Amino acid sequence: MADIEFPVPDSLRGLSPKIGIVLGSGLGGFVDAIAPSVSCDYSEIEGLPRSKVAGHAGKFQFGSLGGVELMIAQGRVHIYEGWTAKEAAAQIRFMHQMGVQIVILTNAAGIVNANFKPGRWMLINDHLNLARQSPLTGSASFIDQSTVYTESLRVLLKAEHIELHGTSLLEGTYAWLNGPEYETPAEIRMLRTLGADAVGMSTVPEAIQARSLGMQVLALSCLTNYGAGLSGQALNHEEVMEVGLNSAKKLSGLLENCIPAMIEI
Ligand code: HPA
Repeated sequence: MADIEFPVPDSLRGLSPKIGIVLGSGLGGFVDAIAPSVSCDYSEIEGLPRSKVAGHAGKFQFGSLGGVELMIAQGRVHIYEGWTAKEAAAQIRFMHQMGVQIVILTNAAGIVNANFKPGRWMLINDHLNLARQSPLTGSASFIDQSTVYTESLRVLLKAEHIELHGTSLLEGTYAWLNGPEYETPAEIRMLRTLGADAVGMSTVPEAIQARSLGMQVLALSCLTNYGAGLSGQALNHEEVMEVGLNSAKKLSGLLENCIPAMIEI
């Protein structure tokens, strides 16, 4: 029996979600695709951190999709708000406590690979932890990270993307930076040299936490903008949110078709 870090509110007793989904900036619209059941504000769960960022509402929505019980986190906390990496991954530990075995992490990210286009989704197949913080700090968890992002789930999603859209789903390496400021053009060039395809300020602590708990991880970046210096334009949070809102629908179609098969893996 796992340690109980968070007391489970009465309203959530008896629920047994199999898949947990974390929605990033502007991606909250995905909840419209599910048959909803209970919802629970983060404030109802003692010890769970809550974000103060616009567009990161803080609640768990429970429900089902294609007969699979889900738990969706609308809003996450980031280290740029002053939280630790362990706090940024608290939702994942709560999902694990609720019985979740597979986590789907989504985020909004900047493009580093100039061949990629805004509005597209990128499957994360590896990451660069450039924030150099870990949710496992304070323990001696020398976990293997050869495959943080479960290969069989990636294969499933890529096949479904071709089936649905006739094109390949983009795939690449996500670089995690502290933020909150966006990168400079020199930093974007550096990230490309290091092998990154996209850059953002989340997801990596959650993925590390999930793997350390033996959960399977699927992660996707919504490419909302070119990284600094790759286009003539300045970056702003409103634009990131708007592209995210439009792209959430595309993700819904893909996940709706894949979620029933995911729990067979
Ligand atoms: N950089 C970092 N994080 C981001 C970006 C970006 O360009 N876009 C969305 N999240």
